[in-house]
Amino acid sequence: MKYVVVGGAGFIGSNLVDKLIENKNEVTIIDNFTTGKKSNLNPKASVLELDVSNISNYDKIVHSMRGADTVFMLAAKARVQPSIENPLEYEINNTIGTLNILKCASDAKVRRFVYSASSSAYGDSKKLPLKENFDANPMSPYGAQKFYGEVMCKVFAKVYQIQTVSLRYFNVYGERQNIDGAYALVMGIFIYQRLNNQPMTINGDGEQRRDFTYVGDVVSANILASSSENVGNGEVINIGNGDNRSVNQIAEMIGGPKINLDPILEPNETLADNSLAKKLLNWEPTQKIEDWVKKYKKEIGLD
Ligand SMILES: NC(=O)c1ccc[n+]([C@@H]2O[C@H](COP(=O)([O-])OP(=O)(O)OC[C@H]3O[C@@H](n4cnc5c(N)ncnc54)[C@H](O)[C@@H]3O)[C@@H](O)[C@H]2O)c1
Repeated sequence: MKYVVVGGAGFIGSNLVDKLIENKNEVTIIDNFTTGKKSNLNPKASVLELDVSNISNYDKIVHSMRGADTVFMLAAKARVQPSIENPLEYEINNTIGTLNILKCASDAKVRRFVYSASSSAYGDSKKLPLKENFDANPMSPYGAQKFYGEVMCKVFAKVYQIQTVSLRYFNVYGERQNIDGAYALVMGIFIYQRLNNQPMTINGDGEQRRDFTYVGDVVSANILASSSENVGNGEVINIGNGDNRSVNQIAEMIGGPKINLDPILEPNETLADNSLAKKLLNWEPTQKIEDWVKKYKKEIGLD
């Protein structure tokens, strides 16, 4: 089977590409390498280097998608705080990029479109666990842009001949997670700091909690979403572990000195209700974060 992974040089996308190739599929990666890395590329994949938010790339993108069963859309500028600093740059990249890829996939007669959505659509809900039927209430440009992608996926399933499904990931961690600079998430930042003998910087009191989800589980959710007969009408599905840890607990798992900085504007707690993923995709998380961190620390010499 042929698949296109847009954003396939990134953290989650490159793990998905590897699994699709391991399963003997043909894969085309589209990426502009803003945060993606050449070192993440699977040598068996074809690569098209271009910016998907530039609509003049339409012909090249449609051509690369012809004959594909599914397009997996992972390309985005994928961080909350930088989106607050550069809302317009993020807007063009994330909303036009998603719309352009939806249009190209539909015009190339691709059967299904699997969209990487985000738990940031929920904002700071006091009601937990978070269920897909809660109102979206994003608290950053990034969260609003990711939510818009879901809305467009629903529109395309209704109006055009393409099946769509949106997967709302909760804080993803695992192999190839970003550990550099502004693009890293909390675990990546702490690991970078420890590797560089710096204290781990905690925003606020560190009691904010996140539902950390393993990248291998996110990959399997994508593959199930591509093949399941229960989806295709723009469904929105939480992909989260269904438990959570505080930032202080993550720091303790990594171990070492820490300092507290001023709090930032962020949700106090995220926690996924993942029963819809079980029902529609037969998906269940498999990884305990403590086990993974222990193994990873050994691998990178932090033990
Ligand atoms: N990592 C998480 O915890 C998380 C949580 C929720 C949702 N998501 C979503 O999952 C997807 C993948 O995230 P990630 O953590 O792997 O991020 P990442 O930054 O590692 O990967 C994104 C990839 O998209 C590429 N890209 C960005 N803009 C592009 C453009 N205009 N044209 C072509 N390529 C472009 C980047 O170069 C990179 O390879 C994103 O859509 C993100 O919003 C991630």
